[in-house]
Amino acid sequence: MSVESSPQPASAHVIVLGSHKDGAGKSTIAMHVAVALLNCGQRVATIDLDAQRRTLTQYIVHRRAAGSSELRRTTHLVSTGGSRLLVEEEGIEFFSIVDAVASIGATHDVIVVDTPASDSDLIRFVHSLADTLITPLDHRLNGDTAGAHDAQVTGSRYAELVRGARQRRNRADSKSIDWVVVRNRLSAAEARDAGASSKGLNELAGRLGFRCVEGLAERAVYGELFARGLTVLDRLDQATLGVPPNLAHVTAQREVASLITGLALPVGPGQWPSPPIAPLGEHDLLKT
Ligand SMILES: Nc1ncnc2c1ncn2[C@@H]1O[C@H](COP(=O)(O)OP(=O)(O)OP(=O)(O)O)[C@@H](O)[C@H]1O
Ligand SMILES: [Mg+2]
Repeated sequence: MSVESSPQPASAHVIVLGSHKDGAGKSTIAMHVAVALLNCGQRVATIDLDAQRRTLTQYIVHRRAAGSSELRRTTHLVSTGGSRLLVEEEGIEFFSIVDAVASIGATHDVIVVDTPASDSDLIRFVHSLADTLITPLDHRLNGDTAGAHDAQVTGSRYAELVRGARQRRNRADSKSIDWVVVRNRLSAAEARDAGASSKGLNELAGRLGFRCVEGLAERAVYGELFARGLTVLDRLDQATLGVPPNLAHVTAQREVASLITGLALPVGPGQWPSPPIAPLGEHDLLKT
C-alpha cells in the first residue's frame, strides 16, 4: 500500500484508537467499545495493528479461553507484519488494510481498530479511515497541566498526524473525522470530580478540533478483567469473575457507560442496554 492511497470509504463505521503514548489505555478502551456495540446487537469486527504487543488480541484470546457462550465475540483480525492481516479463527489473510476494511466492512456494522503508539505510513493511513478517532490521554503522566496536553497531543507530532489524516479523508469522500480526546487513567479524586473541565484542554480542543470526554479512573479491576477476557459491560457474577462483583465493578461500569455515551457512536440514544451487573446487596457493597 502506498502512503498516497486514497482511503476507500468503508460501509461500516470505523473507530480508530490512536495516540503516541504507550499505556494510555487504547486497547482497554477498544475492547470496552467493541463489547458495548456487541451488546447493542451490532456486528463488530476488531483489528489489532499492534504486531508487537498484541494486547487486544491477548484480550480476545483470554475471552475465547473463558469459554462462556454468553460472552459475545467480535470477528478479530490481527496484524502479521506490514499491512497484512489475518482472521485467525477462519484462516483468511488479507494482504492490505484497504482490502481488509473493504471486505470486513461489507458484512459488519462497526470496525474497531487498535493501533500501537508509534508512527508509520500504515498508522497514518489507518487514521484517515476513521469515522471516530479516540485518543486517550494518560493522566498519570502530568495530570491536567498544559505541558502534559502538549506532550501528548500537540507537541508529540500526533496532532500533525491527525491533521494529515483529516485532509486525506476530506479529499477522499468529503467526510470529517470525529476526534474524541479522552481524559483517561484519572486518579480517584479526578474521577469523582468528573464534571470539572480542564481549561487548557478545552482551549486545545477548540484550536485542534477535537471533543473532550471523561474516561476511566485508575482501577485494578481493569487489569483483573483483562486477564479473564471480560469487560465491565459483560455479565459479572461469581461464575464469570470467580468472586462476587463489588462496588469497584459497579463504579467502573458507570464510568464506562458514561464514556460510551460521550463517544456518540452510531447507535441511537436509548439503545444502550442497561448495566449487566445484577443489583448488589449491602453485603457486596461493603466488600470494596
Ligand atoms: N483505567 C485503568 N486502570 C488500571 N489499569 C489500566 C487502566 N487502563 C488500562 N490499564 C492497564 O494498563 C496497561 C496498559 O493499558 P492498555 O494496554 O489499554 O494501553 P495502550 O494505550 O493500549 O498501551 P500500548 O501503547 O502499550 O498499546 C494494561 O495492563 C491495562 O490492563
Ligand atoms: Mg495497546
